[in-house]
Amino acid sequence: MKLANPFVFDRPLPPGELIDREEELDLLVALAVGGQSARLAAPRRYGKTTLLGALVDHIEREEGFIATLLDFSRVTSMADVVARFEQGYAEGLERSKLRALWRSLRRRATVDAHLRVPGDVAGVSVGIAPADGEELLSRLHHLLEVPRVVHERTGRRCLVIFDEFQDLLKVVQGVDGILRSHIQHHYKVASYVFAGSEPSLLAELFGDRKRPLFEQARSVPLGPLAPAPLAAWLETRLGSREPLGEWIDELVAFSGGHPQRAMMIAHMLWEQDPQDPDALSHAINAATREAAEGLEQTWTSLSANERKVLGVIATGQRQVTSKAALALSEIGKGSQAYAAASLVEHCILRTSSDGLLSIVDPLLARWLSPAR
Ligand SMILES: Nc1ncnc2c1ncn2[C@@H]1O[C@H](COP(=O)(O)OP(=O)(O)O)[C@@H](O)[C@H]1O
Ligand SMILES: [Mg+2]
Repeated sequence: MKLANPFVFDRPLPPGELIDREEELDLLVALAVGGQSARLAAPRRYGKTTLLGALVDHIEREEGFIATLLDFSRVTSMADVVARFEQGYAEGLERSKLRALWRSLRRRATVDAHLRVPGDVAGVSVGIAPADGEELLSRLHHLLEVPRVVHERTGRRCLVIFDEFQDLLKVVQGVDGILRSHIQHHYKVASYVFAGSEPSLLAELFGDRKRPLFEQARSVPLGPLAPAPLAAWLETRLGSREPLGEWIDELVAFSGGHPQRAMMIAHMLWEQDPQDPDALSHAINAATREAAEGLEQTWTSLSANERKVLGVIATGQRQVTSKAALALSEIGKGSQAYAAASLVEHCILRTSSDGLLSIVDPLLARWLSPAR
């Protein structure tokens, strides 16, 4: 029988597969148990959903919470938003064996919303007729009170997680104000986690005094995976393909701790002939080909100056306003700094703790300068 490739890189992993992230998980649990909310911002494919899945699992098992993971990725309309809420609660309450409670809550939300619409027969068209904006908004308000009602009925506390929160912001005008009007009354009833792939947007939402969610959620940073646990994890899974294990340290270094890229390259490495003296570079090439379409899209989305700055960082310069960097990019200092800031904002570059810049995605770096 052929062994299945143990490296999955195209979907969130189940909690048992999590590498490291102990500190982040502990902090998220501690905040939720303490009745506080958190925000988790990191580039796409950095392991947010994987970590959130582990949080749900842990907090339900160890702390008796009822957890709901709401996924707003690529949400397009208010009807879609309501559907995502309903799906999230349905799954969360079902896991906690509260299916009947969920049915009664959903019924109440839909019937109540219908009653506000003149000429409608309450409940008859539940879930079938297309609802109008006012009705959907009313349903959303009801859904945001689900944690309070669940707590009243069961005495248990809820954790509600908004994944890819920035996509929700773009669909529902003023949603931060709507959320605030509910969650501010949920202390000791529910805690919230807001996760997203646009850190600057989340930072503004929670860090600007003029916004309703100002200081409503504590930031939990999610950086690259630490080399030691990543290497140890790869060791246990590459064991059956010796001597491919010899490449682990180089793979970890190349990946820069990018979780999905590390997993993708490991997947490709696992498929190489173990005796191939260039197995790792063949694996990296295969991963780059696999990622090429996305890399192309990233490149297309950049301005001319952003491309120049990215090119400079790809040559190994790490301080964008250094003399050498300026000479390479052939653009002015101000434009250069502006382009670099925009690349950081869009998670294409990251600033390390030492203040130096690097490219978030190691495959993008490779794709930009394949000769290295
Ligand atoms: N802690 C982790 N341990 C192992 N693999 C991880 C971890 N975090 C992320 N990954 C890898 O990255 C991929 C993308 O993770 P995901 O949680 O979907 O990221 P995000 O939600 O940030 O886009 C997963 O398929 C997995 O291969
Ligand atoms: Mg995700």
